[in-house]
Amino acid sequence: MSEHLGRVLILAGSDSGGGAGVQADIKTVTALGGHASTAITAITVQNTLGVTAVHSLPPELVTAQARAVLDDIGADVIKTGMLGDTAMIEAVASVIAGAGVPTVIDPVMIAKGGAVLLEPYAVQALADALIPLAALLTPNAPEAAALTGLVVESTDDLRRAGEHLLAHGASAVLMKGGHVEGERVIDILMTPVSETRFESGRIHTRHTHGTGCTLASACAVGLAQGHSLQRSVERAHAYVQEAIRRAPGFGAGHGPLDHAWPMRRSS
Ligand SMILES: Nc1ncnc2c1ncn2[C@@H]1O[C@H](COP(=O)(O)OP(=O)(O)OP(=O)(O)O)[C@@H](O)[C@H]1O
Ligand SMILES: [Mg+2]
Repeated sequence: MSEHLGRVLILAGSDSGGGAGVQADIKTVTALGGHASTAITAITVQNTLGVTAVHSLPPELVTAQARAVLDDIGADVIKTGMLGDTAMIEAVASVIAGAGVPTVIDPVMIAKGGAVLLEPYAVQALADALIPLAALLTPNAPEAAALTGLVVESTDDLRRAGEHLLAHGASAVLMKGGHVEGERVIDILMTPVSETRFESGRIHTRHTHGTGCTLASACAVGLAQGHSLQRSVERAHAYVQEAIRRAPGFGAGHGPLDHAWPMRRSS
């Protein structure tokens, strides 16, 4: 059975450790059967212990990468990750507005080890310029709090923040529950007319580097392949859960997932 080879254009930062960022995005899109292209926004010096340096690329180089891809290869869906600052947000917003394809926006702010990946003063720009362009917005709890000004500590708080983000113009939001305390992890997919919970037992592991990037890219490739939003999120959630379970245990800190698990299902 052949599946439409969905094209995903990824605008995000490089993680030298290969656990998160552009590397996680490419692996995810590939493992789920799509074509990944990239416009790299920043280079991070990073391993499982943290980020030790960040070099942002000029916004015009990011838009040039995106245009080179869009003008030739094309994209069915755009996915954004680390953007860094206001100038990059504005450049990326212009790419999205011009491309006219659905966009999955992962509003990345802080790395797992605590490094700042979006300047705090740029949060408002992200909210104003990008949320209205999102076919799907995928905030974790602290990002939902920063974007809405609400306290987000429980699943009910996540829901309330989701309503605010929908009112702010996102077509759909996937409110991620990884940072909400409890033995169950609950993500909530919300649109103006529906709400679906994706629930799992909390996996006790330190190897969760890049779960957010991976989830957003898995959603993006599903949409690019022509699946419904519901089905795309369902498959993405299952893909991430298994990738966490099979994490290889590399590094002394927050290690990478096993992105390639669907390719060796029998092992
Ligand atoms: N310990 C865990 N057990 C099971 N699922 C988890 C766990 N941690 C995160 N997840 C799942 O991983 C996905 C990402 O959620 P999370 O809230 O951690 O995002 P994130 O903070 O953006 O991740 P990242 O730190 O990689 O950016 C969600 O689908 C969430 O349910
Ligand atoms: Mg994240």
